[in-house]
Amino acid sequence: MDFVSTELERRGVPSALVSNRGIEVKTEKQMQKRREELKKILAENEYGTLPSRPEHLRVEKKPGIPNFCAGKVTSESLDFVCTVDGVEFSFPVRSAIPKSDKKVPAFVHINFSANTPDHFQPTEEITDRGFAVFSFCHSDVTADNGDFKDKCAAYLGPSRRKKNASGKIMMWAWAAMRVMDYIETLPEIDAENVAVIGHSRLGKTALVTAAFDERFKYAVSNDSGCSGAAISRGKTGESTERITQSFPFWFCPRYKDDAEAQSKCFDQNYLTALIPPRHLLVGSAEDDAWADPKSEFLGCASANSVYGIYGMKGLVYGEDYPEAKTVLADGDSFYHVRKGPHFLSREDWNVYMDFIESKMSGR
Ligand code: GCU
Repeated sequence: MDFVSTELERRGVPSALVSNRGIEVKTEKQMQKRREELKKILAENEYGTLPSRPEHLRVEKKPGIPNFCAGKVTSESLDFVCTVDGVEFSFPVRSAIPKSDKKVPAFVHINFSANTPDHFQPTEEITDRGFAVFSFCHSDVTADNGDFKDKCAAYLGPSRRKKNASGKIMMWAWAAMRVMDYIETLPEIDAENVAVIGHSRLGKTALVTAAFDERFKYAVSNDSGCSGAAISRGKTGESTERITQSFPFWFCPRYKDDAEAQSKCFDQNYLTALIPPRHLLVGSAEDDAWADPKSEFLGCASANSVYGIYGMKGLVYGEDYPEAKTVLADGDSFYHVRKGPHFLSREDWNVYMDFIESKMSGR
């Protein structure tokens, strides 16, 4: 048994590959069924249900930024007008697409600000490497607090009185899926190579987005920590008890109310298990004790059992937890831990883009 399996067993992490009826999942067909069970477990107990697709989506273009990135990039300010149950509401998105005669891969960046480039989004470095980036600010979809009447939240999901009502993370994930709806209509984008990326609470959101929407080929979770990539059992720093006290609105009411019972029935490996056979990319920062790099690494490596079902390698790692400045990029999933604090830096973007490029070129 390698050290990851030993660690998962020592922490008492339940296998994501035993079905609700107690059957061990071994084939792709069984995994297809298990995926539905895993999504249900996470929706009912942690993030809440995924709101339904809008009946209609209309994207309105506002004047873009002329000569953006020295004229190399087309940038547009977009308004995503969604119709749900006959009601129209909207949220803003900004696009930056490098001018190219070939289709380009893209990121959907769930961001903390609408005004990009910003300290978490080095737009010109991203587009210079040939990627488009579509970003939106999470609080333009709905406020990052317990106000479930704010903006889109007023129209999404069942009332908070229901134990499985959508939390804010699920609503932000829903918005990222609408951006994908639009991307699929754009001839200049390679829709087969779209990544969803987010940092911290939005790293949790990026994972949930890709877990529930298989159109995303890459799930990029930066410093997502508790209730993101990090395994909860045996985690140091932030715990599920703590996060549900401070940020109950990110989740469904049941995550807080039945925390003790819930912690017995699943862990974050149920979330990372939903990414294969697509690519899971997890980033940590050495000084980010609150997120706990070791537990984030474990959450990433735990998906290897699922990659195995698809005959894939998953994460290629050594004999112990990786030290700072390690990049594990030789498998089908990716992990890196950089020096320094909690942040989404250019260094993070660059290693993620290196890995995605390597997968696109078939390495
Ligand atoms: C808090 C929270 C974390 C979260 C972070 C962030 O620190 O406890 O879970 O990831 O905020 O989103 O910045």
